[in-house]
Amino acid sequence: METKLIDITDIKKGEVQLREAASLLCAGGLVAFPTETVYGLGADAMNPKAAEKIYAAKGRPSDNPLIVHIAELGDLAKLTSNVPDSAKKLMDNLWPGPLTMIFKKKEEVPYKTTGGLDTVAVRMPDHPIALALIRESGCPIAAPSANLSGKPSPTRWEHVYQDLNGAIDAIVKGEPCRVGIESTVLDMTGEIPMVLRPGILTPEQIERVIGGKVILDPALLVHRPRDVSGTEMIAPKAPGMKYKHYAPKAEMMILQGDFNRVKEEMKRIADEKRKQGSKVGTILFDENEFEQAAHDFFSQLRQMDEDHVDFILAGALSDKNSIGFAVMNRMWKSAGYHVIQV
Ligand code: TXA
Ligand code: MG
Repeated sequence: METKLIDITDIKKGEVQLREAASLLCAGGLVAFPTETVYGLGADAMNPKAAEKIYAAKGRPSDNPLIVHIAELGDLAKLTSNVPDSAKKLMDNLWPGPLTMIFKKKEEVPYKTTGGLDTVAVRMPDHPIALALIRESGCPIAAPSANLSGKPSPTRWEHVYQDLNGAIDAIVKGEPCRVGIESTVLDMTGEIPMVLRPGILTPEQIERVIGGKVILDPALLVHRPRDVSGTEMIAPKAPGMKYKHYAPKAEMMILQGDFNRVKEEMKRIADEKRKQGSKVGTILFDENEFEQAAHDFFSQLRQMDEDHVDFILAGALSDKNSIGFAVMNRMWKSAGYHVIQV
């Protein structure tokens, strides 16, 4: 299949291009497009054949549900009729934005889209191209991150091209993504909202809006390095969180400790590895620059692959900070939980 590159970088001049991309989606095709978090791989969420194609193109396990993207609050009624008051508050305050909420699904939403679950994940992305494309296509758009399953999520259209050229109908070219990590996933089907995947939008921000408590999926916590040895893994509630993820080609190790110690140790180990003939890459974010770290992390991992690095040393961020925790959730997975204290 030839993958079309559709340039809508300047949305004011992109009307024809937008219509072209939307008509591919309406016809059951796969179109990647930018959102504020990462690039998504879109398909008509109400068309099971289209949703099925997403799994094939990404090599994604079929039990891993897709997030459905909408452009208007009114579109929610197509997907669910169970919207708690706290969710309404969150939508009014935080949509469009990097927040995905999970609801009981309507019968009309295909199981192919929800990975066989009776719930559906919904989000309104904060990106002019994404919103315009969803509006123009006239249907809710299922869109996982537009990477091959297991690889770092794409934050530039070039990343999508590297992974999916030849396997999808089109890539809508836009600017690099503003956020850099995927949306916060919040399960609204229980009594207390539960974060299934941490993101740039923090539990504290969510609690402030709803005026009540939010809990973390306990599976997110046992993955903390100090609990890794000897602790049984708990199955996470978001099916996608259990898979091997964000893995660069290189072996990767995380150094955790005081910033200056980490810097020294990183240099020492890097020198040692280089002497042994390894091509070493290092990732070290400024302390307390959590949003910058979120923005850069996936693209740095991809850069390491491009540079044929075979050993990556990364400095841990503080997981006491909620955005730091969100980045660490990805970093731990990409390193296969390989963490050393320094
Ligand atoms: O920022 C994002 O959320 C990006 C952009 C494109 O919007 N999308 C994204 O989708 O990250 P994906 O498919 O890569 O991740 C979706 C996550 C997975 O961990 C999946 O298991 C979980 O959300 N999820 C989706 N529907 C769910 C459901 N009904 N119940 C529990 N978890 C669900
Ligand atoms: Mg993904």
